[in-house]
Amino acid sequence: MLLVLKLVASTEGNIALTKELEEAMHQVSLSFFTVAINLPGTTYNKGLKARRKLVQMLGKLVEERRASKCSRSNDILDTILKNSEDTNCVIQTDEQIIDQIIAFVLSGYETASIVLMMAVKYLHDHPLAQDELRKENLEIRKGKPENYTLNWDDYRSMSFTRSVVLEALRMTSIGLGFLRRTTVDTEIKGYVIPKGWTVFVSTVETNKDPDTYPEPLKFNPWRWLKSNLESHQYFMLFGGGARLCIGKELGILEISIFLHYLVTRYRWEEIGENKIVRFPRVEAPDGLYYRLRDC
Ligand code: HEM
Repeated sequence: MLLVLKLVASTEGNIALTKELEEAMHQVSLSFFTVAINLPGTTYNKGLKARRKLVQMLGKLVEERRASKCSRSNDILDTILKNSEDTNCVIQTDEQIIDQIIAFVLSGYETASIVLMMAVKYLHDHPLAQDELRKENLEIRKGKPENYTLNWDDYRSMSFTRSVVLEALRMTSIGLGFLRRTTVDTEIKGYVIPKGWTVFVSTVETNKDPDTYPEPLKFNPWRWLKSNLESHQYFMLFGGGARLCIGKELGILEISIFLHYLVTRYRWEEIGENKIVRFPRVEAPDGLYYRLRDC
C-alpha cells in the first residue's frame, strides 16, 4: 500500500496523511465483496463512509498540487494533472481525477500484496520450486556489490521468478473474475447472450481449466516455461482486451523484486497452523507467520 501511495501521490513525506489514506483505502477494499446493504455498522456502509473521506482528502491534495505548479512530484497524480491541463487532452474534472487515483491505489494494492503472500506460502509448501527460484536469483546476484539494486536486464532474465508469480496468481485467482457488457447479440455454444447484458467472466474457472493448465490443482511454475501460456487466448490472469490491467508488469515486477531479496537471503518455515480464507476474498485473517533463517 505504501509503495502504491508513493507511486501515485508521493505521500510518503506526510506520515499522518499516508496513514489516514491507507486506513480509508483498506476499509473501501473490505467493502468490495459484501452484500450491498447500506445500514449503519455493515462493512458496505463503512466502505461508503471511507470513500467519502478519501474523496475529501484527495480533493485537498489535488487542490494543493494545482496551486503549487512549480513544486510538482512527477508521480501518477502529476501526470494526470498535467494531462488535464493540456488542451489537446480530454479535460478531466477533479471528481474524475480523484476516481482515477482511488482506482489506481486500490487495484495496485490488494492484488500484488495477496499474490505475494500466496507466492511465499506456495514456495514454502513446494521446496523444489523454492530451490529453483533461489538458484536463478543467486545467479543474478553473482558478482554484484553488497548493496546492489536490480536493474531492468536482471528483471528480464528472471524467467523462473516470473513463472512463480504467474503460477501463484493462477492458483490464487484473486478477484474471482471480471465483468463485460455485450454490445451485440452474442452466440456461444448455441446460447444467445442478448445485447446489453452484463457477463461475469469467472477466472476462478478459466484458471483451473485442465485443457489449458494440465493438473490444474498442482502448483507447477515450470508449466509457464514449457509452453507460451502468456500469449494463450485463455490467459486472463490480468483480464483481457481493451481493459487489460494496466499495472500488469508493475505488479509482476514488485513481486519479483521482493522474492529476489527474500530467496537469496532467507529460507522460511511456517509457524503454527496458518489459516487462509478464499472466499469472498483471499486473506489470512490471523496473519501468516514464518520463522526466517539465513541461507
Ligand atoms: C499481481 C497484480 C495484479 C493483478 C493480478 C491485477 C489484475 C487485474 C484485473 C484482473 C483487472 C481487470 C481487467 C479487465 O477487466 O479486463 C485489472 C484492472 C486494472 N488494474 Fe490491475 N492487477 C494487478 C496489479 C495492478 C497494479 C500494480 C496496478 C496499478 C498501480 C493496477 C491497476 C489496474 C487498473 C487501473 C485497472 C483498470 C483498467 C481498466 O479498466 O482499463 N493493477 N487488474
